Amino acid sequence: MVRKMMIAGNWKMNGLSTDGVALAKEVAAAVKAKKRVCEFAVCPPFTILAAVKKALRGAKVALGAQDCHFDEKGAHTGDISPLMLADVGCAYVILGHSERRADHGESNELVCRKAEAAHKAGLKTIICIGETLAQRERGETIDVCSEQILGSVPATATAADTVIAYEPVWAIGTGKTPTAQDVEDVHAAVRKVLAKKIGKAQAGKMRILYGGSVKPANAKELLNLPDVDGALVGGASLKAADFMAIADNAGC
Ligand code: PGA
Repeated sequence: MVRKMMIAGNWKMNGLSTDGVALAKEVAAAVKAKKRVCEFAVCPPFTILAAVKKALRGAKVALGAQDCHFDEKGAHTGDISPLMLADVGCAYVILGHSERRADHGESNELVCRKAEAAHKAGLKTIICIGETLAQRERGETIDVCSEQILGSVPATATAADTVIAYEPVWAIGTGKTPTAQDVEDVHAAVRKVLAKKIGKAQAGKMRILYGGSVKPANAKELLNLPDVDGALVGGASLKAADFMAIADNAGC
């Protein structure tokens, strides 16, 4: 089964017009500099999507956003619709990141609704799942991730419109990572649950990224596992050199 590796940068709430555009230009230049076998994406904050899109011109780096509403338009002050993201040139949208699940009370049902709307607007989704430290310590990792997959991924999702990102909450921004064996075990389990939800063929083709303190130093070990199809990178995606070193070390 050949799945194209993906390296995606989640810039979170970082990047003003000057530094964000500079970062995008550096990534674009580095991706162009040699033949790449992976897919690249950067997901800046809403405010600089248009500027980053321009900065990426001519480079094979997709633009992604970090959230969207489930409606196409209407009375939702402060929200951004999937159609608006498509309109500004986004190919991807990250949904259900643990920071949104925690800070904005996003449920699996809401994430699923957003994903359906995003797909309808022609966007591809990066749907995030992952257990907290307490859940891991109670031995609930696989159960929690399975529930999130079953609840957050639309039954109509396909490998062409959906990417999963497994991000243990306790590994995000902490410098801590699971062992390679733990990562592979969760990814393999996630793929099995996906098969239940969307069928074996699509599950076999769907990319499952690992996220949580991915750095140049651990990229080789964590990203070359059989069921790991790339990375969703937070902190290290804010420095083009680190982001590209992760890609290089992952064989991208
Ligand atoms: P991190 O974040 O790489 O800074 O741990 C990853 C993420 O939250 O997507």
